[in-house]
Amino acid sequence: MSTRTLIRGGLVVTAADEIHADVLVEDGRVAALAAHHTAVADAWTADRTIDATGKYVVPGGVDAHTHMEMPFGGTFASDDFETGTRAAAWGGTTTIVDFAIQRRGQTLREGLDTWHAKADGRCAVDYGFHMIMADVNERSLKEMDLLVEEGVASFKLFMAYPGDLYSDDGQILRAMQRASYNGGLIMMHAENGIAIDVLVEQALARGETDPRHHGEVRKVLLEAEATHRAIQLARVAGAPLYVVHVSAEEAVAELAAARDKGLPVFGETCPQYLFLSTDNLAEPGFEGAKYVCSTPLRPRAHQAALWRGLRTDDLQVVSTDHCPFCFSGQKELGRGDFSRIPNGLPGVEHRMDLLHQAVVDGHISRRRWIDIACAAPARMFGLYPKKGTIAPGADADIVVYDPHTEQTLSAGTHHMNVDYSVYEGRTVTGQVETVLSRGDVVIDGRAFTGRAGHGVYVPRSTCQYLS
Ligand code: URP
Ligand code: ZN
Ligand code: ZN
Repeated sequence: MSTRTLIRGGLVVTAADEIHADVLVEDGRVAALAAHHTAVADAWTADRTIDATGKYVVPGGVDAHTHMEMPFGGTFASDDFETGTRAAAWGGTTTIVDFAIQRRGQTLREGLDTWHAKADGRCAVDYGFHMIMADVNERSLKEMDLLVEEGVASFKLFMAYPGDLYSDDGQILRAMQRASYNGGLIMMHAENGIAIDVLVEQALARGETDPRHHGEVRKVLLEAEATHRAIQLARVAGAPLYVVHVSAEEAVAELAAARDKGLPVFGETCPQYLFLSTDNLAEPGFEGAKYVCSTPLRPRAHQAALWRGLRTDDLQVVSTDHCPFCFSGQKELGRGDFSRIPNGLPGVEHRMDLLHQAVVDGHISRRRWIDIACAAPARMFGLYPKKGTIAPGADADIVVYDPHTEQTLSAGTHHMNVDYSVYEGRTVTGQVETVLSRGDVVIDGRAFTGRAGHGVYVPRSTCQYLS
């Protein structure tokens, strides 16, 4: 039976437009938009009407960088696909693209199958996968072609973490060459891990064991150098490149220089680099461990370059890199040795709100908010216009957003499965009120009405900025 939902009276904001329109949803898709109080809109009937007067009606967020249940440093990220996607829904994110991991000695297929098994039947919102390649060899290079064909069209490589996820320059070049052949997009963790490991060893030998030293050894120059090297390797291979979790002004400058040359180079940053800093890593006691992630938080002065990059389109996407570890029993593994603190922060629930706060603060426009949080990640990873916009035919992944309500972020009220918040006590203006995922209401006036298993796997096409 056909189900129809009407969202009346709101301001529809997409990456392209702001229009006062009613939205008709039919059978999980956007059927039509029409200006308020027109004959067309007034004639519409529905099974359910949502009053969005005074609210924004925006596309569901697309978080293109999450790590549910990621194994790291002898433990696992504390959100699984059920808790993590539920928290995503609470925060107005209706699609995540998570990272399946190939371990050394494994095929890509084995890694991907493991992640499908973790996610299948668990998710509250839709999900896709990127593939982390930790073993670039003849076989896995060939497997890349098959993955691109079946909808896993992006591959993360690590210049960091030697002995674990790390690939050397030769492996990176080979993977890039293969991507230039099969249409895949290489996503790069750009930090010079070999040099960082030397600095880690030297710092620990000097007795520098506190969390703040994590930020000090993972130097800006070693992010910038790796970003530069990744760009040059991509040029040699004739491949596009997407640099993940960009945190340093000098790395943004490398991306901007490459883009000024017309190269197909893209960059992502994350809310933690826009709103947090090394001041947090230096919080007293062992509190700084809560903020340990890689690339690391930077001195506050870097934030201006990140905001500028987002405005000028030298950075295209804001994802969360959601990879939470509880303070108790997980971050604590690194007491007395910062290099043993599991790397990663919680954030999947707060991205839409923090970026709306950036609109309120004047860093970005309303349309740019929706671009960097919804449309650009959807285009980057082959999901547009199914995801990332509100237009006839698109999936009805829609958020009714109250731009005026103030809320205070806290571990006491968030829905992520983690025992602290990196934004504890921060007040932001704006709040998700209602969320539709393929037409089903999953958040209804601040109540969760979704279910594990509603979310489906979404195969993706190749990067739509290249076609
Ligand atoms: O610290 C981080 N970012 N943890 C997740 C893994 C990664 O490198 O993205
Ligand atoms: Zn990374
Ligand atoms: Zn990550």
